[in-house]
Amino acid sequence: MNMAGVIEKLLAADLVIWSFPLYYFNVPGILKTMIDRQLPMSRPFMSSRDDGYGSGSHDSRYKGKGGKHVLVFTCGFWSSEGNYDSVTSMFDHILGKGNFETIFCGQGELFCVSELSARTEKYLSVVKRAGSEYASSGILGTAE
Ligand SMILES: Cc1cc2nc3c(=O)[nH]c(=O)nc-3n(C[C@H](O)[C@H](O)[C@H](O)COP(=O)(O)O)c2cc1C
Repeated sequence: MNMAGVIEKLLAADLVIWSFPLYYFNVPGILKTMIDRQLPMSRPFMSSRDDGYGSGSHDSRYKGKGGKHVLVFTCGFWSSEGNYDSVTSMFDHILGKGNFETIFCGQGELFCVSELSARTEKYLSVVKRAGSEYASSGILGTAE
């Protein structure tokens, strides 16, 4: 992983989309490794937080730089109770409490049930359209 290049892109981006499947209540290992390797973005000195989030921290080396953040993830469990606590807490610590938008897509296993395809295909086609619009020019409209 060219981490210097990744950090350059993170700092230059207007919008960072963190997209992943939820694994054991948090990000998959490969994404956690990338997060761990962002360490040079922090100054080495300990500081106290002023965002009311409790623990000590390291100030950002690039305070004020960087765009907005959105978390988008799929997950399998049928209930959202407690399922997202760990991942949202981790990003609260990293980005500042609530300093990001979230789109959580629960019950992802239902998309594998062929008997439900009449319902899920319609939804997936709108999601696919949003993805390709975003990749080319930004999301244009809303689903009818
Ligand atoms: C190792 C592993 C851990 C998982 N942990 C969770 C979990 O904690 N909560 C949850 O709702 N789903 C969990 N799931 C289900 C996945 O989130 C779900 O299958 C995934 O979002 C579907 O995306 P994929 O097709 O890209 O794997 C887990 C799946 C795997 C393979």
